[in-house]
Amino acid sequence: MSDPNGVVPTIAAIRAAVSAAKATGRTVALVPTMGALHAGHAELIRAAQRRAGFVVVSIFVNPTQFGPTEDFGKYPRTLDADRALCAEAGADSIFAPSAAEMYPGGFGAFVEVPKLDGVLCGARRPGHFRGVCTVVLKLFHIVRPDIALFGAKDAQQSIILKKMVRDLDVPVEMQIEPTVREADGLAMSSRNRYLSPAERGLAPRIFAALQSVRSRAGAGERDVAALRAGLHSDLAAIPGARVDYAEILDAESLETTDRLAKPALAAAAVFLGGTRLIDNLILGD
Ligand code: PAJ
Repeated sequence: MSDPNGVVPTIAAIRAAVSAAKATGRTVALVPTMGALHAGHAELIRAAQRRAGFVVVSIFVNPTQFGPTEDFGKYPRTLDADRALCAEAGADSIFAPSAAEMYPGGFGAFVEVPKLDGVLCGARRPGHFRGVCTVVLKLFHIVRPDIALFGAKDAQQSIILKKMVRDLDVPVEMQIEPTVREADGLAMSSRNRYLSPAERGLAPRIFAALQSVRSRAGAGERDVAALRAGLHSDLAAIPGARVDYAEILDAESLETTDRLAKPALAAAAVFLGGTRLIDNLILGD
């Protein structure tokens, strides 16, 4: 990394670093994260590095996107390992502000994308995407990137953020990268480290259930209710699992659809013990 200290904690300092990079004609990319970085994040950073001369990774466990009973307090914070991963993947700067830096006393403006946030994770985690949109728009204003990179793993998040950028004329190019998986298919996630060995053994069955829907769709099944029922029962058959949702929705509008015609998003959220895992696949791509 060009920044010898590696981590920039203030808005003023990251603005200065980005301005200096822009003054030398470099394209700026931003990879927003909450840290506890893994190979999925590393791929986003590498993709950013291929596109831009100056790559900023933000690391901020954003309090406004966690519900009162969620895992904000225990969310893994692994800054030393994150710094090493960022350096290895080619980041130029890490912006890691404090909560007080991002949300000083009296903070009160929020960004919402209603309708798109009324389904899937948005329906189960009230206020979650309001927190995500607010922090990402703040990061866009702070870093002023030319390109911002996000993962398909969080499909609804990517769809909502693209809509926010379009509707609010944010001058940034949104690039969505494919989901990076473990060898057994489990989507990489910072929350996988919460899993017990037994739960970790069962977790790949979420992706297997999504793959099985995709092969049924590929074999000609067009009835969304039948596909959804198959997905739900495959997930419910995982020992100890509680299915939070199993849905098949239009891949762009996230509206319900009866027959598969356009590309659809098959998405699932499953609790294994206390850990909530999400994954998705596109059908009919
Ligand atoms: P976080 O969960 O840390 O994820 C940061 C980025 O990495 C997101 O764009 C996410 O989609 C992507 N990502 C996570 N797992 C991935 C995988 N297995 N393959 C590919 N990409 C993956 O998402 C957030 O943080 C936050 O909501 C944030 C956008 C930073 C706002 O606080």
